[in-house]
Amino acid sequence: MKLKKLKIGRTELPGNLLLAPMADVTNLAFRLLCRSYGADLTYTEMISADALINENRKAVLKGLASREDRPFGVQLVGSSPEKLREAALFVEEEFRPEVIDVNLGCPSKRITGTGCGSALLRSPELVYGIISELTGTLNTPVSAKIRILKSEEKTLEIARLIEKAGASALTVHGRTAEQMYSGNSDLARIRAVKNALSIPVIANGDIRDEESAEKTLEFTGCDGLMVGRAAMGTPFIFRRIRHYLETGEKLEIDPQAQQSGDFEAYITLLEEHGLLPSINLRMHAQWFTKGLHGSRHFREKINNLEDGKSIVELMKISFPEKI
Ligand SMILES: Cc1cc2nc3c(=O)[nH]c(=O)nc-3n(C[C@H](O)[C@H](O)[C@H](O)COP(=O)(O)O)c2cc1C
Repeated sequence: MKLKKLKIGRTELPGNLLLAPMADVTNLAFRLLCRSYGADLTYTEMISADALINENRKAVLKGLASREDRPFGVQLVGSSPEKLREAALFVEEEFRPEVIDVNLGCPSKRITGTGCGSALLRSPELVYGIISELTGTLNTPVSAKIRILKSEEKTLEIARLIEKAGASALTVHGRTAEQMYSGNSDLARIRAVKNALSIPVIANGDIRDEESAEKTLEFTGCDGLMVGRAAMGTPFIFRRIRHYLETGEKLEIDPQAQQSGDFEAYITLLEEHGLLPSINLRMHAQWFTKGLHGSRHFREKINNLEDGKSIVELMKISFPEKI
């Protein structure tokens, strides 16, 4: 039994499998689906602190959270301690999430260009200032998510500062911002961070199946695992990993039936929560049908469709046995 309990602040999770925050992916419906398959904690997509404290707050928050999606974390992105505090206070009041996370890892130019995400890793004092500001103000536990830096010393320096500032957990993606998604996640560097801190450290990067989950957990000694891309279109990954860590055995599944059935469930959840108009359903449908028999035909046809209803109809024709 390799699945462990994980405690973040006062929240004790039944296991240690987390869904990564992913922009345009981890909407409420997707999080609920991952949770139904055993994700112990889910994070929202990153939310800009600036957007939250400006007048378009309502649009940003529409369909963000629901009572069923618990425990959950809200991830904020920003670079000003004051603005992040204001945004976090608002989130705390409005949603009472179990944790508020700060994005210190996003490498995209749109984010780093404004001094946010991984750009902050170049300013350890500012990171310390941001985390202290939040831990000093909020009742909600605060976590942070970083990428590694080229130098181990600098990676450890920033990790220690985040702990010193009062964070309740730290997630480490084992790639530098410069790498974006190339190369492999550096498990040795993640392990070095784990060994340097007392707060829970969550390993992230390249966990795509049962074996990589087990290897990451064992090699790094981390307290939890965070899964990102491997859940896109295949939220069932959480049940597979969970089962394997609990029993040492792999689940037999029929991907065709599983993925098309999950897509149907996803559409239902999107509809229930009024989220269909706000997502790029075509893109999500591509993920859910990746590798399936008949998916080439589906992909060719889907490009001519715009609305959710016709995509669901096409899905029914393309994968008739399950939907
Ligand atoms: C489409 C996409 C969107 C992402 N958005 C975010 C985000 O909003 N916040 C964040 O901290 N990381 C974000 N990430 C990074 C993931 O959380 C994760 O750190 C990364 O994908 C590595 O984990 P994986 O190998 O399991 O995918 C995103 C990644 C992808 C692929």
